[in-house]
Amino acid sequence: MNIQSKSLRRYAAPLVAIAVLATATLVTAREPFTKDELKVMDEKLTQSAKRGYDMWYGARADMSSNGLACANCHPDAAATNPQTFPKYMPQADRVMAYREMINWCIENPQAGKAMDVSSSDMVALESYSYYLHRGVAIQTGLQTRQTAGFEPKNARGLNVKGTGIGFDK
Ligand code: HEC
Repeated sequence: MNIQSKSLRRYAAPLVAIAVLATATLVTAREPFTKDELKVMDEKLTQSAKRGYDMWYGARADMSSNGLACANCHPDAAATNPQTFPKYMPQADRVMAYREMINWCIENPQAGKAMDVSSSDMVALESYSYYLHRGVAIQTGLQTRQTAGFEPKNARGLNVKGTGIGFDK
């Protein structure tokens, strides 16, 4: 027996074991989500998007020291282009994640305090904006796409009726 076939024998058993394990993992993969599970998932997301809506149209003191809300400049999440992130942003001279851009607007136009990027509040702002952009094709690198012309007005949030889930009841 030559050296090659000896080492083949040595490795054959572990290899077979790995193959069996891999197959077993495939077989035990979970079933597709049930209707009930999908309902819960949808409810949780809608709840987060509604919270994001309230925050988007309100001007929470920590997010805004000048009374401007996101919606003053981005009504209905206009010109936020979540489908184009991550992308290079000249003001930071690097590729930025969407949530970092949200913080940029909190700190600059709104002169507020940047949020913890993994907080549920940040996720809520993302949920709202992504929700409104569902079905929009991913356009990597597109700089801006103005979806609505808008003159920012200086005000403490906008006069909209909140959903009650967020902050501006
Ligand atoms: C006073 C107006 C103003 C307010 C208020 C404002 N933004 Fe912006 N926003 C801008 C401007 C101007 C830009 C473009 C900046 C650039 O590209 O350098 C921008 C860009 C963005 C972008 C990136 C869009 C892209 O395609 O590059 C996102 C996301 C965004 N804003 C989210 C928000 C969120 C969320 C809020 C509220 C927390 C907010 N903005 C509040 C003016 C504003």
